[in-house]
Formats: sequence, C-alpha cells, structure tokens
Amino acid sequence: MWAGRHVVVGVTGGIASYKSCHLVRRLTEAGARVDVVMTRGAAEFVRPLTFEALSGRPVLTSLWEPDRALAHVRLGREADLIIVAPATAHLVARLAHGMADDFLTALVLAATAPVLLAPAMNDEMYAAPPTEANLANLVRRGFGVVGPERGPLAEGHTDRPGRMSEPETILHHAIRLLKRGSAWAGRRVVVTAGPTREPLDPVRVVTNRSSGKMGHRLAQAAWYRGAEVTLISGPTSEPEPIGVQVERVETTAELKAAVARALPGADVLVMAAAPADYRPAGALDRKRPRQDGPLNVAMEPTEDVLLGTKTLRKTGAVIVGFALETGEATEKAAAKLVRKDLDLIVANDALEPGAGFEVDTNRVTVLDRDGGRHQLPFGTKAEVAEGILDLVEVRLG
Ligand SMILES: Cc1cc2nc3c(=O)[nH]c(=O)nc-3n(C[C@H](O)[C@H](O)[C@H](O)COP(=O)(O)O)c2cc1C
Repeated sequence: MWAGRHVVVGVTGGIASYKSCHLVRRLTEAGARVDVVMTRGAAEFVRPLTFEALSGRPVLTSLWEPDRALAHVRLGREADLIIVAPATAHLVARLAHGMADDFLTALVLAATAPVLLAPAMNDEMYAAPPTEANLANLVRRGFGVVGPERGPLAEGHTDRPGRMSEPETILHHAIRLLKRGSAWAGRRVVVTAGPTREPLDPVRVVTNRSSGKMGHRLAQAAWYRGAEVTLISGPTSEPEPIGVQVERVETTAELKAAVARALPGADVLVMAAAPADYRPAGALDRKRPRQDGPLNVAMEPTEDVLLGTKTLRKTGAVIVGFALETGEATEKAAAKLVRKDLDLIVANDALEPGAGFEVDTNRVTVLDRDGGRHQLPFGTKAEVAEGILDLVEVRLG
C-alpha cells in the first residue's frame, strides 16, 4: 500500500508527538517517502533531529529557509497524503480560520492532497465549543479526522475523548482516505464471517474449520473503500477490523437474527460466514460423563441464513454468497446462485492447497447472475477481497 507513496507528516506541540515518531517509522518501513513538517511547539517536545533520522530526510520547520522558498506550496501538491498527528487545538483553530502563519498551516492551506488530522488534547480542550466548531468546519471542508479516543491522558485518567489514536489506527484511516471511492460513499455493507458453534451440552460444541479471515479482510476492504460496514462474526481469533462495527454471534440461529437486524436498508450483503448446516437436536443441559458409554447424537438441519434473507433485501442490493465445496465447486456454486437468488457467488474448493479454511491465501472463481465467470488470481485473502469487491462495485454502478 505505501511503497512509492509520498506522505507529509505534520507534527504539532502536544505530548502525543512522541507517538508520531512511531508513525513515521511505520510509514518509512512500509516504503513511503516521508517529509516531516514540525511547528515551533512540536520542536519543544521532540527534536527535529529525531524525525530526520527516522525519515532519512530534512525536517521542515520554518517558512523562512533560504533554499526552500515555495517548498510549502510544492509539497502540498506533490504529496499523496498529509497526516497531521498530533493535531493540537491551536492547529485545528488555525486551519479552520485559514491561517498560514507557519510552514505547516501554509502547506495545508495550499494543499491539493487529502488531509487526515489526528487531534490530541486535554479532554476539556476537546469538548470546548470553539474546538468542536473548528473541527466540524474542517470535516465539512473534506478533512479526514481520526479520534481522539477515550483513555488515559498525560495529566491523568479520564473516560472522555482527548487521547490521540494509536499510529496503527491512524494508518488504517489514512488508507481509507487514499482508497475511498465514490461508488461506496454512504453505502451500507453487511459482511458475515467465521464459523458457528452449535452446543452439544453446556461445555461441548459442534463447529467447523472456518477461521473468519476471508470475511474479516472483506469487511476491512469495504471500509477502506468508504462504506459503512457491519461485520457479523462467529467465534474467531482474528483482530477486529478498524472502523468496522462488529457484532459477535455464536450459533447459526444467532447469526440469522443478527443478519435480519442488520440487512434492511443495506446496499451489499456478503455472506462469507460458514454457518453450520446441522446442529445437535436438543442440547443436553449437563455435561455428560464418558462413563455413561457411547453417545449417539441426532443432528437436525439448521435454517438457511442466506435463503432466509430473500424477503429482507433492499431492491437493487448486491447479494454475495460463498460456496466452499470439496470437489465440483463451481458447478455446485452455479446451482446455489440460482436457488438463493444471488448476484455473485464465490466458489472455492477446501481440498485445494492454499485455499479455503484456516490459510492466509485463497483461490476463487466468482460467478455472476448473468452467466459470467471470473477466475481471480491466487493471492492473500486481502488481495482476493479486493478482487471480489471490484466485482461488487461493477454491480453497484
Ligand atoms: C506540556 C504541554 C503539553 C501540551 N499538550 C497539548 C496537547 O496535547 N494538545 C494541545 O492541543 N495542546 C497542548 N499543549 C498546548 C500547545 O503546545 C500550545 O497550544 C501551542 O501553542 C501549540 O502550538 P502548535 O499547534 O503550533 O504546535 C501543551 C502544552 C504544554 C506546555
């Protein structure tokens, strides 16, 4: 994502400026060219030398350097992205009022590149009406804002917002600012992921090998493109995607109920979950000891979650199913596409090396309702997610 990108990181005079060292480090490690611009206040907290060492480039602090006349205008045009982290209350106020009294504010005022602000300040400063109005003004003008978050501040603990978002979170929001596309703005996307667990008794469950990786990557990728995303996930050890609203479920019945709540009004449904087709009929209410001898468990079919959404779908919504099979995956998927009235179905074969459950890669063929067949290149699940969303985007119009 970052290789070859040119990023300006603006640093202002807040305690959180120490975290910006890590942000610059992460960007340069990922292959970005980073120019750091510091306010005079920032240089009171971290020496420009630190950022020069981390970025491998001279740090810009003053408008009045002899060799750099007009560098503030050039940088804001050449850069792919400007991140200001931390953004103090003072900086937010200056930007909101179009001031250009130092290198950073002049650069942002003249910039054509997108700008992401990571405000960080005392909770009272953040809640103060002028700060609130200034930030609202900048959001209206198209600035991206990440945070501030609740959590400990340098001056003590508070559960009100003020703390700067962590560098990793800032990077995810930066990717969204770079990737967002008009086809996805204001769209609501529901993604399901992971296995379900059907109880045998209060301790034991029947489950499957789904890791949730494919669904989590799809949810993250849809959010990067600018959608509002709800991820309904069965039990998985995958970290929650940034920016995505996550709802946890356990059984197929819970998954069905969560989808029914989330689906009305949604523009896209991607059913990447692997809900159980069968569940034990009548779970025991106590753990059964081994001494009781052989256990025969009667299994009953669960309800088909995807089929059950037919009456809840908004007209024009793009509905995507998954068919994980063990052999003849595309033929079985084609039949499922018709039976469940889907726009797209993603077929993959659990027996193929590097595809299906538990691995980080996938090889899939996507069938569409018009008879099209799209063989996506073998790749990581994040790459495959992008390929699937490209096909969704075509149908979103
Ligand atoms: C120790 C200390 C910590 C500060 N931390 C913050 C902060 O986290 N956020 C903030 O908005 N201002 C903070 N300030 C106040 C700013 O440094 C001050 O408003 C300054 O004018 C900001 O200038 P700048 O935005 O040009 O960097 C702090 C000041 C001091 C002395």
